Amino acid sequence: MTDATAIHEQTLAVLGAGSPEAISARFAEIRAHFESGAAGLPAGDLGAWTALRNAWLGRASGVLTAIGDNWLKPATPEQKRVVGKALNELKAHVEQTLETLKARAEAAGAGPLSGMDLSLPGVRRTLGTRHPLRQTLDELERIFRSIGFSVVEGPEIETPYYNFEALNIPEHHPARDTMDTFYVSLPKGSPELLLRTHTSPMQIHTMEQQKPPVRIIVPGRVYRRDNPDSTHSFAFHQIEGLAVDTDITFCEFKGTVEYFVREFLGQKTRTRLRPSYFPFTEPSAEVDASCFGCDGAGCRICKQTGWIELFGAGMVDPAVYGFVGYDAKRFSGFAFGMGVERMAMMRYGITDIQLFYQNDVRFLRQFE
Ligand code: DAH
Repeated sequence: MTDATAIHEQTLAVLGAGSPEAISARFAEIRAHFESGAAGLPAGDLGAWTALRNAWLGRASGVLTAIGDNWLKPATPEQKRVVGKALNELKAHVEQTLETLKARAEAAGAGPLSGMDLSLPGVRRTLGTRHPLRQTLDELERIFRSIGFSVVEGPEIETPYYNFEALNIPEHHPARDTMDTFYVSLPKGSPELLLRTHTSPMQIHTMEQQKPPVRIIVPGRVYRRDNPDSTHSFAFHQIEGLAVDTDITFCEFKGTVEYFVREFLGQKTRTRLRPSYFPFTEPSAEVDASCFGCDGAGCRICKQTGWIELFGAGMVDPAVYGFVGYDAKRFSGFAFGMGVERMAMMRYGITDIQLFYQNDVRFLRQFE
């Protein structure tokens, strides 16, 4: 018997392998030998891999070089074709297997991932969630979109004309006092600019830009010089609504408001309109909803009244149409403006408006 590790040291003549079959059998032996060496390679051991490669592909003393010297060179011309072909195949196989083994060795032990346990669970990145105010805005927008309103937005810096005058609030009108206004400091002589105190200026912008029918809501941030407390913030959010067309009556106004209240607070909620005053609506109303805490019986949430104040609204005052060039005899409509924080607080039972702005995850996490 010939030692399998040593057959490449001998010539084919010495091995008695002259026929193509015998030559193939010898190559198969060699290949099996390589296979067992490769299989026994410890994963992640680059040193052992290098030794294996040198033993087989080493230029001076590798097995393949020896086969070239001992089997190929002394062979007869007919044998050479067989040996040459088999040697090429063996070489390709050895090279390819070694490549694969090297990649495995690097990945397991010596490569860029060295020292990492890939079976450990990964670092979980927590997904963000929509802020409760955003969730409330999305819900408000969904409800009004479903009945034909579109959503528009407008500038937070306004002129006194859009924030006041065109809304029928002339200078020295007492309504200006209730909206303590931030004015932008500008070089002397520049036209006055302010941070809008409500989203109502977008009523004017919209009517200036389009003819009736108008059906819009305007979500956005507004500013007032209020000291922060549990119900006040110098910046907060409103949604304005405006619908103007040729045949909008108080009936459409009331129906829309009632539909909205039921969608937002539940189908059993009742709505009440209370006379009020806004310079840009006539008549004006406060919209109240039956208390979600006691269904109208009286409790702490509604301060024993059974009702909760939701928002201001009314039929657009014809004086406003005068500012935007609408024919007040042909067109009529209604408007409303609600505080988004207020709606969210009511909906979720939040008692401190400041919580919306503090970005405390212990608070935000409750609205996932
Ligand atoms: N702009 C008013 C405010 O901020 C709210 C309001 C009341 C808007 C009645 C309206 C409305 O459109 O009709 O206090």
